[in-house]
Amino acid sequence: MNFNITTTPLKEINADVEIVIVIDKNLKHKTVKERKLLKKAGFSGAQNEVCHLVGKRRIYIGADNLKGAAIRPAVAAAIRSLNGKKGYKTLKIATYVSHPRCSASIRAMVEGLVLGSYTFTKYKSQKVKNPVKTVEISLEGYEPHEITMETAARAVHNGEIAASATNYTRNIVNTPPDDFYPESMAKKAKKLAKKLGLGCKVLGVKELEKEKMHTLLAVARASRHEPCVIHLSHKPKNPKKVITLVGKGLTYDSGGLSLKPGDYMVTMKADKSGASAVIGIMKAIAEMNLPIEVHGFLGMVENMIGGDAYKPDDVLKAKNGKTIEVRNTDAEGRLVLADVLCYAQQEVKADYLFDFATLTGACVVGVGHYTSGVMGFNDEVKSLVKKQATIAGELVTPLDFNDYLKKTLKSEIADICNISNTRYGGAITAGQFLSEFIDEDHKEKWAHIDIAGPAFVEHIWGENPSGASGAGVRMTLRLIESLSKENTH
Ligand code: BES
Ligand code: ZN
Ligand code: ZN
Repeated sequence: MNFNITTTPLKEINADVEIVIVIDKNLKHKTVKERKLLKKAGFSGAQNEVCHLVGKRRIYIGADNLKGAAIRPAVAAAIRSLNGKKGYKTLKIATYVSHPRCSASIRAMVEGLVLGSYTFTKYKSQKVKNPVKTVEISLEGYEPHEITMETAARAVHNGEIAASATNYTRNIVNTPPDDFYPESMAKKAKKLAKKLGLGCKVLGVKELEKEKMHTLLAVARASRHEPCVIHLSHKPKNPKKVITLVGKGLTYDSGGLSLKPGDYMVTMKADKSGASAVIGIMKAIAEMNLPIEVHGFLGMVENMIGGDAYKPDDVLKAKNGKTIEVRNTDAEGRLVLADVLCYAQQEVKADYLFDFATLTGACVVGVGHYTSGVMGFNDEVKSLVKKQATIAGELVTPLDFNDYLKKTLKSEIADICNISNTRYGGAITAGQFLSEFIDEDHKEKWAHIDIAGPAFVEHIWGENPSGASGAGVRMTLRLIESLSKENTH
């Protein structure tokens, strides 16, 4: 999708279709030219309500206001309504009303257009695609002093990068497990690194053994696909900060010998969402060329059953020497992350350390399908994640650790168990398990983000399609962007 930004008034721009955002529920605003027709069609201007007046070549879309959080899903719904249709190559749109954060609204609009036009058609004989190729954005309504062309153009550019990276992540997550396994991610990472000038190191089984990543290797053992850990790096000169991102990359989670029931196994191709988010973030960081050093570590493994499978009752030794009693092979993500977190901290001393994982069903039970849980020891770091997620249009809520729950991970024969002895608080106990693998130096710099809920949802919600959402990409990008603007002293 190509974007052109112009000061030409909307009516002078030729396009196949126009998106008109309606914020006035009485439909009395000057931008609403077909009030009677809309009323007749029963259009009420509610948030995300679409009314396509085909003959008038206008798509009306309701929004509660012109802030990013309302514009993004609204515009996504409008452009999504064209999926599978032909003859809508060019689209025009304006934001009309300016306010102090108008560049954020322009960015949200671009994100909404790119995110809403996403379709995953790889496996369809009849490809349903979005027809829009060119979007003309008119700054009609803005006074020249309110936003410069340069600011607007940057908002468009960054919005495009953020949303395209999200779609890139969605494609990976949506790809079935027989077509996307650890080696596929390694290939993808190498290709991306070459294109964008990122550093890329892939550790295969031999290197993983050398690095003593035995818990990761145990989870991987029964799969016909060998595991790998991928280290991507973006290293600008004189970086303002150093950030490490770690992602859970289970290309399939059958549960292992603690086998999942059939209907819980469906969608477990999405258990690679954490790693997929990290590679998407790396792509966007490189494209924006942010002055922050960013390292992405992806733990790629398939959790299967078989004669060589790791077992409940096994005791494993993680990279940092801690022993783990396995009581459930379906709590495998934390075992993989334990080793990758240790490795990441050995390789990089970071100012912030974030991990992303579809770690627990308990997180989905606790906060619902649309929200990620953020955990850690430092309230400010958790708040920062939540704040930037909100700006980016993602939902995050803190889940606080406590010492009582920590005790439920005790083992009689090893240093710790991989599951807790209570059925409750599973998202937090999983986070507290991970905390055992965070060094003293990184304790206050770490946040664990459980994206099990939003990473994969089987219906449309807001700007997200049915299937993979790309959860974690936009929020982290915003966070890293905010650090790049921060004063260094
Ligand atoms: N990948 C799952 C968590 C999950 C569940 C993600 C639903 C997305 C949707 C994870 O590996 C898992 O199986 N966790 C177990 C932990 C339990 C055995 C302590 C769970 O949540 O049931
Ligand atoms: Zn599992
Ligand atoms: Zn899992």
